[in-house]
Amino acid sequence: MEELEFRHRFVPGRPSGEGITLLLLHGTGGSETDLIPLGEELAPGAALLSPRGKVLENGMPRFFRRLAEGVFDQEDLQRQTDAMAQFIEAASRQYGLSESSMVAVGYSNGANIASSVLLRYPSLLAAAMLFRAMVPFQPQPPPDLRHARIFLAAGRRDPIVQQSETNRLAGILEAAGAEVATHWHDGGHELGRDDIAAAKAWISEWRAQR
Ligand code: MLT
Repeated sequence: MEELEFRHRFVPGRPSGEGITLLLLHGTGGSETDLIPLGEELAPGAALLSPRGKVLENGMPRFFRRLAEGVFDQEDLQRQTDAMAQFIEAASRQYGLSESSMVAVGYSNGANIASSVLLRYPSLLAAAMLFRAMVPFQPQPPPDLRHARIFLAAGRRDPIVQQSETNRLAGILEAAGAEVATHWHDGGHELGRDDIAAAKAWISEWRAQR
């Protein structure tokens, strides 16, 4: 068995999951167990693949280094994005998962590594649900994301992610050909029940259309 790059949890899918895998990516200070309940709620029966970020900031796991809040270490981001892509490919082989059914679900720092993977390795993910995501970098030239469906959930009063940042990310993804839906939560960086309800409705529709 191949050595996988990230410490992680894997929950095999059930027939009701229709072969879908959710790649669960936690926020700063989280772990590989954090988003398992969210994954089970969003897509019951889907396989769940949940890595733990390898970068530590004052002991808190993250998926890449930052220089300040919202200011990313681009060299480390690229390195960690490459490592995540290798993890997705190796875990897919090991657990028999299909990349055309892989949906990233990321919160905050986890959403930021997910969008970095989307922009650098567009073919690895079929869809992404990004909660409180920022622009990881400006891709040049734009990748081809015409196959990708993306759900963004942003907070109108998020002190970490400004509304203009969410709109800029949506614009970058749309310019790459992705179909983007944005849910606006009437609050800040923390998730609300309305975020989860909107995400559930969105993924049910995505599943029905595949
Ligand atoms: C990040 O560093 O990815 C963002 O600032 C979100 C966070 O982790 O707080």
